[in-house]
Amino acid sequence: MDPQAAENEIGKLKKEINYHNHRYYVLDDPEISDAGYDRLFRRLEEIEGRFPDLITTDSPTQRVGAPPLTKFEPATHTIPMLSLSNAFDEKDVVEFDRRIKKFLRRENEILYAVEPKLDGVAVELVYSDGIFLVGSTRGDGITGENITQNLKTIKSIPLTLIRREGMGMPSRLAVRGEVCLGVSAFKKLNRKRIEEGEPPFANPRNAAAGSLRQLDSNVTAKRPLDCLCYGIGDVLGVNFTTHQEILHMLSCWGFKVTRHVRSCSGTKEIIDYYRHIMTIREELPYEIDGLVIKVDDRILQERLGEISRSPRWAMAYKFPATQETTKIKDIIVQVGRTGALTPVAIMEPVIVGGAEVGRASLHNQDEIDKKDIRIGDTVVIQRAGDVIPEVVKVIISKRDGREKKFRISQCPVCKTRAQRLEGEAVHRCLRLSCPAKLKESIKHFVSKRAMDIDGLGDKIVNQLVDTKLVKDIADLYSLTREDLEGLERLAEKSAGNILAAIRNSKNTSLSRLIYALGIRHVGDHLAKLLAERYHDLKKLGEATREDMEEIYEIGPQVASSVAEFFSQEANQRVIDKLLSSGIIFCPQEKTDDREFKGKNFLFTGTLSSFSRDEAKREVEKRGGRVTSSLSSKTGFLVAGGGPGSKLAKAQSLGINILKEQEFIDLLRMETGDGKN
Ligand code: IVH
Repeated sequence: MDPQAAENEIGKLKKEINYHNHRYYVLDDPEISDAGYDRLFRRLEEIEGRFPDLITTDSPTQRVGAPPLTKFEPATHTIPMLSLSNAFDEKDVVEFDRRIKKFLRRENEILYAVEPKLDGVAVELVYSDGIFLVGSTRGDGITGENITQNLKTIKSIPLTLIRREGMGMPSRLAVRGEVCLGVSAFKKLNRKRIEEGEPPFANPRNAAAGSLRQLDSNVTAKRPLDCLCYGIGDVLGVNFTTHQEILHMLSCWGFKVTRHVRSCSGTKEIIDYYRHIMTIREELPYEIDGLVIKVDDRILQERLGEISRSPRWAMAYKFPATQETTKIKDIIVQVGRTGALTPVAIMEPVIVGGAEVGRASLHNQDEIDKKDIRIGDTVVIQRAGDVIPEVVKVIISKRDGREKKFRISQCPVCKTRAQRLEGEAVHRCLRLSCPAKLKESIKHFVSKRAMDIDGLGDKIVNQLVDTKLVKDIADLYSLTREDLEGLERLAEKSAGNILAAIRNSKNTSLSRLIYALGIRHVGDHLAKLLAERYHDLKKLGEATREDMEEIYEIGPQVASSVAEFFSQEANQRVIDKLLSSGIIFCPQEKTDDREFKGKNFLFTGTLSSFSRDEAKREVEKRGGRVTSSLSSKTGFLVAGGGPGSKLAKAQSLGINILKEQEFIDLLRMETGDGKN
């Protein structure tokens, strides 16, 4: 291949990949299979590998793989990024509209564009001649941080603007948007973090902010972030007459834009729309904390201008905060499987946003110190959606001097001094034989995706450890009927069932066992990759860090964690004991993502963890098809809440019916949790 031919093909491939990328990540409407996409991508990588001079910054291959930074450079916004003033009720909205009319000396209704206020992290994306140049955080509104490399990993941010006939191409375009993590992606990320012994994020916004603030963009790349654009900064070469035209043009150039923008004439329509969005809020894929009301006409916007860093032409109309005040009765410390010590506030129970809340995670010592939270304090707590309740702030004026400061000093169970490892915010109990850690390790070991031992609930596990019948996970395999029958409230029949479940679990796969060991950072997906490479626990134990890092998805952190785990003599002893208890490995379950090939799915009713599009994408990623009508070819009917007539019809046809949770379980079984 000569350089000219290479350049031509690279140009074609980039265009094609960008096209499919846009269909998948922005329009939620893919046209080709994952395998087809991968083929194009690999071909591009191959040619670029042979002609490295032809690699451009906007090549799809350049989204990942940049070396970590030592710090973020400052980035200045040519036009400051303003903030919004807030309306909290209808009266505030009426007042906002009245002020605008008065300022403009107008009597007739103003046309507003009303759209969701996304709860994420504000960013600015600058394009020069259609190519993504710099991306930054808001910072103080004038100067933020240059996080270009992290933003490039977000697939819904175009690296090159789409050119369309009859539509201008600005020589410079600054786009503003919000980087968010979808509610279901957030839940999945937290589940994974808990499994891997990491503290969970309090809410999607914190998770998005934490993911963007990474000096190593390869970490950001693993988080399924999304970017929804809602406005512009400085632009050269194109004019817009209305806000809705801006949104339309952004969408044409390839940006993801909310589908929930509505034209409202006057306040009544705004209030009606607000009520409507309130009713569908829980179904939206992203967390929103209100609406933004914007004067649609750009000339009027300009006339209105700004006042003290907020535009006069826009306002946030916030949802009622799901906040309450209550009192902290105590602070306890929970011990995780990896020894992470998490402080938890025990509070006088209150109803927040419809649910009773009596506990809130305080995350770590820094968080307690930053907010100066003490036992006995009256605090404001908050619950957003179904995220973990959090303490927002202390009401200092309610203190009477009897409040007690709190420090994490020791493991509450084994009393070992708490340690804080370098670079970590959490304290840990590092004692190998800590019974609290052991209990958590056993709960993980027996869980569904690990050894799948049914019947060993938390109460029984606690008793097994407290009575010293089980001193490590391998001891489960030498339990006898007498041991179990000696426990409280355990019927003879269930002792037999548990023993059978323990026996059955010996027939397992290597990946399940690796996952079950509970090595930090090793979730079930990475466990599969390790099993596929080493085929044998002994070989994995002997593997060097460098060797493990040869596996595409395994980085230095995971490799060190695995090596460290196997280097501990106590762990080696447990592994030897496990292997000599007669565990048999079945052939490895392959990480094949085309498992649904030839299967047709049909959805009815509302799903709570997915939008229809997301569910469809999950099926299609695995090679299955989603159809809209029921026929004898329908393999599965997935029934969400409030299913329609399809459910009864499917029942009469004898079609497999899955509840939402069963569908989720099926997805997990097929690919593990590591895929997004
Ligand atoms: S417009 C000059 N639209 O809210 C107008 N902001 O308090 C500035 N936000 O920093 C923003 N969704 O991060 C606008 N649809 C939306 C928004 C939105 C979320 C955030 C944005 C901004 C903050 C303003």
